[in-house]
Amino acid sequence: MLGNFVYHNPTKLYFGPDALDSLKQELQQYGPKVQLIYGKGSIKRSGLYDQIVAILQQCGKQVFEDAGVMPNPTVDKLYEGCRIAKQNDVDLLLAVGGGSVCDYAKAVSVSAHCTEDPWDKYYLRMQDVDNKIIPVGCVLTMVGTGSEMNGGAVITDPKTKLKIGHVFGPNVFPKFSIMNPEWTYSLPKYQMVAGIYDIMSHIIEQYFSGDDDNTSDYLAEGLLRSLIHSSRIAVQDTQNYEARSNIMWTATWALNTLINRGKPCDFMVHKMGQSVGGYTDATHGMTLAAVSMAYYRFLLPYGLPKFKRYAVNVWQVDATDKTDEQIAAEGLQHMEAWMREIGLVMNLTELGVTEQMIDGIADGTFINRGGYKILTREEVVTILKQSL
Ligand code: NZQ
Ligand code: ZN
Repeated sequence: MLGNFVYHNPTKLYFGPDALDSLKQELQQYGPKVQLIYGKGSIKRSGLYDQIVAILQQCGKQVFEDAGVMPNPTVDKLYEGCRIAKQNDVDLLLAVGGGSVCDYAKAVSVSAHCTEDPWDKYYLRMQDVDNKIIPVGCVLTMVGTGSEMNGGAVITDPKTKLKIGHVFGPNVFPKFSIMNPEWTYSLPKYQMVAGIYDIMSHIIEQYFSGDDDNTSDYLAEGLLRSLIHSSRIAVQDTQNYEARSNIMWTATWALNTLINRGKPCDFMVHKMGQSVGGYTDATHGMTLAAVSMAYYRFLLPYGLPKFKRYAVNVWQVDATDKTDEQIAAEGLQHMEAWMREIGLVMNLTELGVTEQMIDGIADGTFINRGGYKILTREEVVTILKQSL
């Protein structure tokens, strides 16, 4: 394990079919004013909204509704959420939804009492929080981002087409998250598989970095094997509790600061995917899938030993009588076949990207320096073009 590090994850998780029973005891720890944050209506259709409002009423809470959080939440929506939180001096932000709703709640939590423009301060200048933080609790309905147990809060400015994530510290992590895998059954298949690939991408972006023998990589391999196994079951049988619950739990551990300990990490796929999202508003996991194969085939020669290990330990490639290059390439072939099997979007054209957009997308792609090869802007352009 390289370097010095702290591991501290303060989020309390309640997991399983009866997880919502614990909301009451959590609510008792906060004041009476609750901002109830949710998306465009899936929680009303599933009945979860009614269950949560009933619990809030039983607990004597005064509820301030903050509905309509869109996938890839925008800066204007953030300002609206801040107004609701500040005018009513709310005690808790209760996010019910997917990563967008959880991320947005965290962004409101640090921004409502911020005296500057939060987009400038936290996203363009990447400054830390030095004002009051409103606590956040999550009830998760979509799996993939890991937002339920991390400090990530990604916000998009449609005017400049910039989509930027700020990873806040443990003081901004959700205080608690409630996770019932059954709530994810109603997700459209497109969203389910996008979430599955988001998990995959989080894990491999941490895995493909560093040359040392590191426990984090062994944890990553185990998570990947579980994810691949369960994803194959879930696409055939979306109501399979065993598979959906494993996917939900894997998503949390894929990006809750455990498997990046002692690792430099290479988040280039996310940097490119986020910029694509800023241009097209496409579904997050699909933006990652569309650029991944071009990126990893480009990266392979620079990180050959790790790609070989990935092929053997994750994809069970038989290494007998093959060169390292052949083994590594076969691993990526298995990965691509799996991506096609579960129904991912494999190119940017399908997400609405045109050749004319490539320069702008490259301009909005922040270069990550932790991978086996630090990309130049020209290399970003090449990879994006190969992904069309
Ligand atoms: O708005 P509603 O009606 O709720 O519909 C949502 C939305 O349209 C729907 N949905 C959610 N749960 C459902 C459901 N539909 C039926 N049944 C359910 N149970 O799914 C759609 C997508 O939801 P969204 O929250 O946008 O998806 P996801 O969880 O993938 O979140 C994506 C956002 O998270 C950010 C992404 O950039 C993107 O903005 N990320 C956050 C990260 C973090 N906090 O660390 C890291 C990730 O890499 C990612 O960047
Ligand atoms: Zn992601």
